[in-house]
Amino acid sequence: MAAFMVRKRWFSGSSIDWWDGVKPAAKDPIFAITEAFLADDCPSKINLGVGTYRDEKGRPVILECVRRAEAKIGGVQTMEYLPIGGDPKLVQETIKLAYGENSDAVKENRVAGIQALSGTGSCRLFAEFQRRFRPESPMYLPIPTWSNHHNIWRDAHVTQRTFHYYHHQSKGLDFGKLMEDVKNAPDSSFFLFHACAHNPTGVDPSEEQWKEISHLFKVKKHFPFFDVAYQGFASGDPEKDARAIRIFLEDGHKIACAHSFSKIMGLYGLRVGCLSIVCKDAEQSAAVKSQLQQIARPIYSNPPVHGALLVYTILTDPDLRSLWLAELKVMVSRINVMRNLLRKSIENFGSLHNWEHITNQIGMFCYTGLSPEQVDRLVNEFHIYMTRSGRISMAGITPASVDYLAKAIHEVTKHDR
Ligand SMILES: Cc1ncc(COP(=O)(O)O)c(C=O)c1O
Repeated sequence: MAAFMVRKRWFSGSSIDWWDGVKPAAKDPIFAITEAFLADDCPSKINLGVGTYRDEKGRPVILECVRRAEAKIGGVQTMEYLPIGGDPKLVQETIKLAYGENSDAVKENRVAGIQALSGTGSCRLFAEFQRRFRPESPMYLPIPTWSNHHNIWRDAHVTQRTFHYYHHQSKGLDFGKLMEDVKNAPDSSFFLFHACAHNPTGVDPSEEQWKEISHLFKVKKHFPFFDVAYQGFASGDPEKDARAIRIFLEDGHKIACAHSFSKIMGLYGLRVGCLSIVCKDAEQSAAVKSQLQQIARPIYSNPPVHGALLVYTILTDPDLRSLWLAELKVMVSRINVMRNLLRKSIENFGSLHNWEHITNQIGMFCYTGLSPEQVDRLVNEFHIYMTRSGRISMAGITPASVDYLAKAIHEVTKHDR
């Protein structure tokens, strides 16, 4: 009995509060908006925070090409592991989509590619690769950029720097300062660009500007990394939206791309994407690929199988591919209709501000220019949710909600000069 009491005291005395030092982490700025939106019971609430496509009634969409690809596949075919680098057929099709089937890099088999956990996972793999093999080179991120880019390169312990991108007065590209920053960066720095439909601004360089950037990159020996989350979502045509990538390729740059099928095929939760790195020859490509696999193995072992099969089926079946291209156009055109309606409606309410940028910007988002305080009023008084940067997801607006949104925007901006 006595021995039992001593033992009990010893056990309770040795109990350690392992996680005493753990404080609540800051919420993710985008996912926190959805949480707040879901907790709001106002019937007229609108969520413009998260970048997911919605139809004209505000409903999530499963593309018809995806449904038909599911039918063609005929249900789950395998539960086996994929190789560490994922489905090679998916990787090959993704590379062809972005780089062009006839590009030298593809024909010479010198693009190292592996399937990864969508765009986020692809960026993270690249950041890890960069730290391992180019630890001295910083990654330059545009200001602003998708907020998770900062988290990704921070957690990979890569030095981060920033470059000018957006011009607040003109609500367009700050091309002059961008070029200055590219020029002033130490030679052989890494720069992240959004291949098209820049998130959050909806502002891309023109073709001429891309050519100038590419030329300066040659002079400075910089490395261009493209986040390709919206190929097809800017113009409705994936070929056109690959223009920046192709310009850099034609100029002989060794580039890398993080590809995502979340937005362009509506496969958000399936986590389908790839990381690709252009190398000098097939031998180097094999070496780079093997290192990417070595990075992936202890993190998640291998990527999920089903989404890869779906994407591969859509890209290689001529009918499904045409259907996908047509559905992309429908999504882009619905967003553009909303841009026109929103701008017209704000102007019709008598706003004296210039709202041209709503129709000038492209892709899923509009960077409205609303201040954090104006956004707070939209949330608190009108139950309209968005990031405090004033970014709105155009795909979250419907013909039924556009006037309510326009009136609210007019209300919170009308006394501002
Ligand atoms: C610019 C950009 N890159 C990458 C992603 C990552 O998306 P996912 O990981 O779903 O492919 C997003 C998503 O919003 C994005 O906007």
